[in-house]
Amino acid sequence: MKKWSFVQCSDLHLGNNPDGVWNNRVLTSISFDIFQCFIKDVVSYSPDFIIVTGDICSCDDDMVSEKIKDVFNSLKIPLYLLGGNHDLSTHQIRERELKCFSTGFPDGKFTYAFTHKNLRFCMIEVSWVWRDSTIHAIRDPDHNVNMKESHTGLRWVLSKEHLLWLENELKEHQNYPIVVSIHTPLFPIPNRIMFEGCLDGGVLVNAKEVLELLYNHPQICIVLSGHMHMNYTVREQNVVQITTSALCEYPIEFRRFIVDEDKIEVCTFGLSNPSFAQQSLIPGNEKVRGFLEDRDFVIKI
Ligand SMILES: [Fe+2]
Repeated sequence: MKKWSFVQCSDLHLGNNPDGVWNNRVLTSISFDIFQCFIKDVVSYSPDFIIVTGDICSCDDDMVSEKIKDVFNSLKIPLYLLGGNHDLSTHQIRERELKCFSTGFPDGKFTYAFTHKNLRFCMIEVSWVWRDSTIHAIRDPDHNVNMKESHTGLRWVLSKEHLLWLENELKEHQNYPIVVSIHTPLFPIPNRIMFEGCLDGGVLVNAKEVLELLYNHPQICIVLSGHMHMNYTVREQNVVQITTSALCEYPIEFRRFIVDEDKIEVCTFGLSNPSFAQQSLIPGNEKVRGFLEDRDFVIKI
């Protein structure tokens, strides 16, 4: 098999919301310019496809979705999309995204799978835990928390239905290394990256249950996530979790995976226009970039 590659980017937050601050400045107002720069840059890497690990949009406006659809349709590289909490917050937003971005959701669903050469990919949506502990596809309408500033009280889970779906996928593809994309990470932010005032988006409520399924898989399981707006990597048994920073917030980077028969090389890249990252950076919060072990490494498969 000839080496091949794919790219992961995350948390585009395309939209027209005013800029905010998470761990660095969230540049929603220029998210389209940033994404256009990413598209221009990524062509030179010739990936087989791009995975976006959630938070595609930050908008309530149907016109903005149409604009995003045009940008996606202009892309010559196949796109595999995943919903994040911002994409799954209301029925209206969910349905609009599935309809508008249908090329990125091949089965017309937020949860789907595909095989590419020697890897099996599972894209799984997260569900919301409401204040009364019931589980739903959308956010608790009574929970008026501004997701731009804090995730306090917001919790996400893999529903029983999606756990069963993953279990079956793993059973049916025992000979494949699996790449599972879930917006909300399974492993928390490592201490090496924490800093004073660091905001934590929170891990999946039933991460242990998901990990038990992955630990039982006879092959390597790579978990791709976003949500935290920072780069970090955690290895535990046969699981490697790669959490990638947001494209709308410092360090404004993406990952490239070069896949061989026995290994995957992972590298992290910034955009050709460094001024976006400079505009977003709040000095002192550079740790969100992660360290070498979080950014450039090899996974044996
Ligand atoms: Fe996000």
